[in-house]
Amino acid sequence: MANDPGPRRITGPLRTWYDLHEALAHEARALADLAPALVPGDSEALDAFDTRLGRFRTELRHHSEVEDVVMFPAVVAAGGRVPDRFVDDHRAEQLAVYALGCAVLGARADGDASAFAAIAPAAGDLRDSLVEHLDAEDAEILSQVPDRFDADAQGALLRRIIASTPADPHLQPWIAAALSPDHLEARLRNLATTLSPAALVGVLTQIHAGVDAATWDVVVTRAPDLAGLVPT
Ligand SMILES: [Fe+2]
Ligand SMILES: [Fe+2]
Repeated sequence: MANDPGPRRITGPLRTWYDLHEALAHEARALADLAPALVPGDSEALDAFDTRLGRFRTELRHHSEVEDVVMFPAVVAAGGRVPDRFVDDHRAEQLAVYALGCAVLGARADGDASAFAAIAPAAGDLRDSLVEHLDAEDAEILSQVPDRFDADAQGALLRRIIASTPADPHLQPWIAAALSPDHLEARLRNLATTLSPAALVGVLTQIHAGVDAATWDVVVTRAPDLAGLVPT
């Protein structure tokens, strides 16, 4: 419908969830795009794919675990509703990642064209199911947040999530590298208004240490005030 405003969007601290979803979708699409080019004899490309899959696997699992154990229960406790399908999706996603990992290992072990050909369908299945899941979560779960959590409550929940998850120095650079310049700048501005000064410097330092020169150049260009907070 032309005038349909779409699902409500989070404007408080928890809008960081859109950044995570964007990064996960970006990486699932990238893996699916790269997979068809993997061929016997190019072990460098297979290694790079495997490394990227490994990072994606870790971040997806952490994200889904946090949703199942902290985020979704908080939405329910605040009077919201989380259909069972979302928890079921998380388990199915883990199996899809596992299937892709097995396809990569199979290509390593067998090394023939048919083993390599199994990677692309597995990556495509993972992308398709995950993108659908993320879109549904945005529309059905995150849309409930604005009416149930004011900015203070969102900040408190976000701090609780950060405090309860293991330190992951790869997470912030991984998200930063996956976002468009506009989205990255918006993410950094959001973090700047949400985190304590010390935590903000910590995040920026992790990003600086973990991204390539092109991504850090985006930070310097779009948010020089924040880039300047990184100790030299
Ligand atoms: Fe999810
Ligand atoms: Fe999610």
